[in-house]
Amino acid sequence: MPPYLPAAVLQHEHAPLLDTLRRILVALVDGSLDVAQAGHLLLREQLLDHAGREERDLLPHLPPDARWPARVYIAEHHHIATLLLDAAERVNGHPAYVGDAETRLRLLDAHHVLRHVLEHHFAREEQGLFVEVREDQCPPAGSATVSRGFPPSPAQGPGGGDHVG
Ligand SMILES: [Fe+2]
Ligand SMILES: [Fe+2]
Repeated sequence: MPPYLPAAVLQHEHAPLLDTLRRILVALVDGSLDVAQAGHLLLREQLLDHAGREERDLLPHLPPDARWPARVYIAEHHHIATLLLDAAERVNGHPAYVGDAETRLRLLDAHHVLRHVLEHHFAREEQGLFVEVREDQCPPAGSATVSRGFPPSPAQGPGGGDHVG
């Protein structure tokens, strides 16, 4: 059985996480707010799981001279969770489908900072955390399924909603 390498597994999950966010944005452009709301719930679940494993399996093994200390990553996890909650709350209260272009644009704009911060956080981890942590010091643990229950995007086709990190 191959060893569990948490940094490699977690880095592999970034693309599917960003894809979940992209599909939320596409749903907003389409006016399908019920799909966007389902995406918010899924992304929240995925990010909780992903960030939890980073904090459990990687951050305790950062070397003392790491480029960014653990508290930076943890603060960003909290910030991202708050931004996602705020964006989701902006969508809640609207009908399942919205045809008005101005409303769609306003809801799309409400996700701009979330997207920026999430992409920046992933880039930081890929430059710092994932390359600095000593994999051989990490405890063995199970990998996790990243994406469940979100309808596949048209570009992915059937079954494309399942991403294993
Ligand atoms: Fe993270
Ligand atoms: Fe990450």
